[in-house]
Amino acid sequence: MSKAIEFKQIKKVYGEKTVIEGFDLTVERGEFVTVIGSSGCGKTTVLKMVNGLVIPDGGSIFVEGRDISEMDMISLRRNIGYAIQGSVLFPHMTVEENISYVPDLLNKKDKERTKKAVEKWMGIVGLEEDMRERYPSELSGGQQQRVGIARALAASPDILLMDEPFGAVDEITRGQLQTELRQIYEKTGITVMFVTHDISEALKLGTKVLVMDRGKIEQYAAPEDLLKAPSTEFVSRLVEKERRVCTLPDEQLADCGHSGAAGHLL
Ligand SMILES: Nc1ncnc2c1ncn2[C@@H]1O[C@H](COP(=O)(O)OP(=O)(O)O)[C@@H](O)[C@H]1O
Ligand SMILES: [Mg+2]
Repeated sequence: MSKAIEFKQIKKVYGEKTVIEGFDLTVERGEFVTVIGSSGCGKTTVLKMVNGLVIPDGGSIFVEGRDISEMDMISLRRNIGYAIQGSVLFPHMTVEENISYVPDLLNKKDKERTKKAVEKWMGIVGLEEDMRERYPSELSGGQQQRVGIARALAASPDILLMDEPFGAVDEITRGQLQTELRQIYEKTGITVMFVTHDISEALKLGTKVLVMDRGKIEQYAAPEDLLKAPSTEFVSRLVEKERRVCTLPDEQLADCGHSGAAGHLL
């Protein structure tokens, strides 16, 4: 496997406060990494450093092998989709205009191609055709979230960053979006970094889970390994509830984590 994202000795300081220090992480291409940890531990900061929205104060970040401090932000972001919680859609643009915004920038001349991309991604994220002409204010929270995901994916990026994208939707919609996202991931082979504060979601979606506390990595492992062998007290407490609902023998814990059974029982 080759490396999609690499953090090397990353440091980030806000004012007097060091929020990230000595941060080393390699995300292999095609991995679905869920990022979890207490509030304020630096999850959003880590994510935003990948697409240059936050600049580190020390260390280097490599995306697809290139040091991003030497890249122009436009070509970096062209290859990285970004979706966050709540609606960040352009309120004065229709669903279609929102989704086609980036593809339009990328291939100005080929309108037909953009139209096809919009059609394709609306279908994949489960938006009805008749929603094309609607404005964000005319959509439910779940529908807005779907448009946000379609928009993040419409430029066919190699990397998708998501920051608590399903935080504001109801349980049922959340379950549907999780399933759809996992299918998109499996179909496209895209590399994903997905921040969540929900351990069930982290275990269900991730091929790898990154557990953070106070700007440091507690553990970076496959969901089944996290459940079977938590490497710190912090991780142990985090997965404790999940382990209790998983009353299966050890060798089946992997299935339990991946099937989302734990999440549904909670
Ligand atoms: N722009 C900023 N200015 C000052 N402090 C910030 C800024 N952004 C984040 N922080 C602080 O950095 C820490 C990590 O924040 P963040 O990455 O948003 O955490 P998380 O996403 O894990 O909740 C927090 O203590 C937060 O208050
Ligand atoms: Mg955050």
